Amino acid sequence: MSILVTGSAGYIGSHACQRLLRDGHRVVGLDNLFRGHQAPMDLLSEAHPDRFSFVHADVGDTDRVLATLDEHQVDTVMHFGALAYVGESVEDPLWYYRNNIAMGIGLLDACDQAQNGRGISRFIFSSSCATYGDPPEGMIPVPEHCPQAPTSPYGYTKLHFEHILKDYATKRRRADNPIALTMLRYFNVAGSDRTGMLGEDHTPETHLVPVGIEAATGKRDSLSIFGTDYPTPDGTCVRDYVHVEDLVDAHTRAMDRVEIGQVQAFNVGIGKGYSVREILDSIKRVSGNDFIIHETDRRAGDAIALYNDPSKIQSELGWRAEITDIDEIVSTAYAWLRTHPEGYGS
Ligand SMILES: NC(=O)c1ccc[n+]([C@@H]2O[C@H](COP(=O)([O-])OP(=O)(O)OC[C@H]3O[C@@H](n4cnc5c(N)ncnc54)[C@H](O)[C@@H]3O)[C@@H](O)[C@H]2O)c1
Repeated sequence: MSILVTGSAGYIGSHACQRLLRDGHRVVGLDNLFRGHQAPMDLLSEAHPDRFSFVHADVGDTDRVLATLDEHQVDTVMHFGALAYVGESVEDPLWYYRNNIAMGIGLLDACDQAQNGRGISRFIFSSSCATYGDPPEGMIPVPEHCPQAPTSPYGYTKLHFEHILKDYATKRRRADNPIALTMLRYFNVAGSDRTGMLGEDHTPETHLVPVGIEAATGKRDSLSIFGTDYPTPDGTCVRDYVHVEDLVDAHTRAMDRVEIGQVQAFNVGIGKGYSVREILDSIKRVSGNDFIIHETDRRAGDAIALYNDPSKIQSELGWRAEITDIDEIVSTAYAWLRTHPEGYGS
């Protein structure tokens, strides 16, 4: 297949390109490099010169995206390109709505006009468990039918874009030209590719696993736990961590199994929650290093516990996380960050 991967220079998008190339597909990466890195694009181009190319562009640049879709005869789009920080979205919601929704519509316009006006065949969207907000009682683990009530503009950008995509799929069905649409609602994504080529390099870094590793390797002096009095076994928040390669595997299954005409949403998470303390203990075990932890007040908007009910994706896509042991997930992240202390700039 010929696949456009938006956000290809970012953490998850680069891992998706790598897997798709390994599977023998032709891949075009597209990223505006606002948060992504040129280095993984160069590494993938060197490894797969005949089947990978990179376009430095914004997803909202409809003309450029359309030219790219046509030039590469793209039939499938995986849309990872987005701004993805909850706190930042609270501070500047309009920026988030513009980038994640308005620019996303620019991408959809191009997808609609491609293939001589017939449109692309498959679209897979990176949605988020942030669309569920703080699930009501009885909804943990979180199933796909949990009410979607985001607690941040970021979560709303993902939820609104889900609605836009569904409406677009309806238009295509009515025009007798259906599309396969999949919305994958990720829980927390962690770890790195196990060959050591790609890793997680966010600026600023806010994700617990890399932040903890920065503390363990001395790159930061300490880290803070926000809230130790939650009604959880050790008082800290609980989250579901899915290894990035397992997450990417869910995309390939969605691409292969969701049929033209279907509109599907799946949660992607291992189905098990780990507390903040458990993650930090794992980082200490894996690194062999201790570090200073400050216990501070709860942070507004943090859900107490968020972990996935993986039944639907297991039964309908046959997906199951291969790596569920937290030390194994952390080890892959640690291996890359230890050898790349400055990320791709190392
Ligand atoms: N990392 C997680 O734990 C997590 C969890 C749930 C959902 N997601 C979603 O997964 C996707 C990828 O996340 P990530 O962690 O790899 O983030 P990332 O920031 O590493 O990658 C996103 C990439 O998209 C690019 N981008 C952003 N806006 C763009 C635009 N308008 N045009 C072109 N490129 C643009 C950025 O430059 C960056 O390279 C995002 O949509 C995010 O919301 C991530």
